[in-house]
Amino acid sequence: MCTVSFALKAEVKMFAKFFLLIALVQVGCAQQQFDVLVEFGTNFSTLALETQNEIAELYHFNGDIVREFNRELLLELGRLVPAMREADSSFQEQIEAADGIDAECREYVEELRELFLLFQNWDIQDCAYYAHVELAEDSVNRFLPYAITFLSENTRSISQVVESFARNNAVADLDALVGELDGEWEYYQTLAISFGDFLFEEILAHADVADRVYLELVECSTIAQDLQEADQEYILSYLDNNCE
Ligand SMILES: *[C@@H]1O[C@H](CO)[C@@H](O)[C@H](O)[C@H]1NC(C)=O
Repeated sequence: MCTVSFALKAEVKMFAKFFLLIALVQVGCAQQQFDVLVEFGTNFSTLALETQNEIAELYHFNGDIVREFNRELLLELGRLVPAMREADSSFQEQIEAADGIDAECREYVEELRELFLLFQNWDIQDCAYYAHVELAEDSVNRFLPYAITFLSENTRSISQVVESFARNNAVADLDALVGELDGEWEYYQTLAISFGDFLFEEILAHADVADRVYLELVECSTIAQDLQEADQEYILSYLDNNCE
């Protein structure tokens, strides 16, 4: 519309009218160009808000995933602890019911059982500890630092128009300013899409770690139970010959 208006000046014959029209066109253009800046401002704010909402959704999703994986680990530990406790109480019954041993030997075997129970507890604690460390590290280092970076970059976009305005000479070269804003607009749109995808991938990547940690925990639980069984067999061997 600006260029069309400028073309009109050729049709204006009178000197005064010519200048009047130029002045009007310039005011009109300045207004129109300023409208473009306002439009940019609105667009940047809208995009920033939409992106912020998307990050917030991903943030909640991330939290849900981390909680779910922790819950599954706890369930596995919840299976391990009663199983080992049960194995211990039937072991105790076996000691109590043992024939042909004197009280001294029974007492000694009881003490051995208590000592080994301590080690068995450490085994369970180790399983839980390693699972916790790996999962905690992953839940802190994955997604969150990137989400925060993205959030601050996204927030910067709200003030982009003012920032570009400050950097450019809007009076002498408005086109350069509009050109810069066009570029920034492209940048933030691409950023919103690519970073959204990136953050989503980060969340999905929790699953790889959680799967590994879970399998390790299951393996650790099996080892803990095997060790408990071996301990008990060892202790029972004392009962075979009255602790001789
Ligand atoms: C602002 O957004 C609208 C709708 O997406 C678009 O049509 C328009 O070209 C954008 N304006 C600028 C200055 O980029």
